[in-house]
Amino acid sequence: MHLTKQEEKMLDGEMGEVAQRSLRLLVRLGEIYGADRMIPVGSVQVAGVSYKSLGDPGLDYLEDIAAKGAKVKVLTFLNPAGMDMENWEEIGFPEEFARNQIRVMEAFRNLGIVVTATCTPYLAGNLPRFRESIAWSESSAVSFSNSVIGARTNREGGPSALAAAICGVTPNYGFHLDENRKPDMVIDVDAELEFSSDYGALGYHVGKLVKNKIPYFKGLKNPNTDQLKALGAAMAASGAVALYHAEGFTPEARDFDVSKLEKISVGKKDIKATYEKLNTGDMPDIVILGCPHASLREISALADKLAGKKLKKPIWICTSRVMKEAAIRMGYVSIIEKAGGRVVADTCMVVSPIEDMGFGTVGVNSGKAANYLPGFCNQKVVFHDVDELVKRCLK
Ligand code: F3S
Repeated sequence: MHLTKQEEKMLDGEMGEVAQRSLRLLVRLGEIYGADRMIPVGSVQVAGVSYKSLGDPGLDYLEDIAAKGAKVKVLTFLNPAGMDMENWEEIGFPEEFARNQIRVMEAFRNLGIVVTATCTPYLAGNLPRFRESIAWSESSAVSFSNSVIGARTNREGGPSALAAAICGVTPNYGFHLDENRKPDMVIDVDAELEFSSDYGALGYHVGKLVKNKIPYFKGLKNPNTDQLKALGAAMAASGAVALYHAEGFTPEARDFDVSKLEKISVGKKDIKATYEKLNTGDMPDIVILGCPHASLREISALADKLAGKKLKKPIWICTSRVMKEAAIRMGYVSIIEKAGGRVVADTCMVVSPIEDMGFGTVGVNSGKAANYLPGFCNQKVVFHDVDELVKRCLK
């Protein structure tokens, strides 16, 4: 693999031990995947932020490299942490967990990473450009940036993303190359999709079918960005789809002639069957929305539904701190809180320790959350559209 003079110096340790080790990891990755060179990245998103997944070894590692003076070279954001960093006590996150999570965030801050912890960094101040190479980790963020924005990223692991942030480069392979962005099959959708959960169900179904291939959707009718993020998140979770195209709606779709590709039809009955399959519970103890992290439009829609009502079961909506601040200013947060709900920032239902907080059945409108909650958090799932979930919490 060709390395620039600067990269060779880095590999020789002239820019410090952490940069040397980081570049070594990237070179190794590049060799495995046949990269010809390193390419600069415009931004990074690092996963593996929750203390729940990092544990003590991860925390020690981060504190160690921060103490050695390592700093990131490009705009770097974080994936959700294990708790709301401001209101953790009030919400009831365990204290020992909180202490460790605060240390994790401090180590990231010392590395120069923006401690905005979100899986929708593109809504919170880290918006890549069309065809810009980036190194992002969280699978729904990878899907959205590749597919809806047309930026270019592989599905990075936490360590390779951190290494890319420290070195400012990533190996040139996979989705950075034109030839690896072509669709593999056409998904012909013949169903009315109204709610984000319908797109989540479609994504869950298609992800199972296509695994890590690149689907090309036909037949989607005017989805908004919230629905596209729900679709991509579910496909990345049930399969390993990191890039999809949607005729008329994603920027690279028009570049391909798909007339000779295999066609798979998806209809109303597939969506219905997916809803049935994802429902493993009946009455939720809590409803948690915002997977991927909610946009301002989704928070405002929830506020509209809860205005003047009193919830019998709690509803949380997870989002980034940036969106929450905007929602506070608009009065949405106070409406939701008056009804007995919460706008929870910095974390989500999958990476926080909800299994230790007395919940056994969670209501979600996200195909991705429905996929992970049973295994990661030992929860039963009620998967439905937001209207039905709100209705069940008012009863
Ligand atoms: Fe984001 Fe957590 Fe869902 S990281 S995509 S809200 S599982």
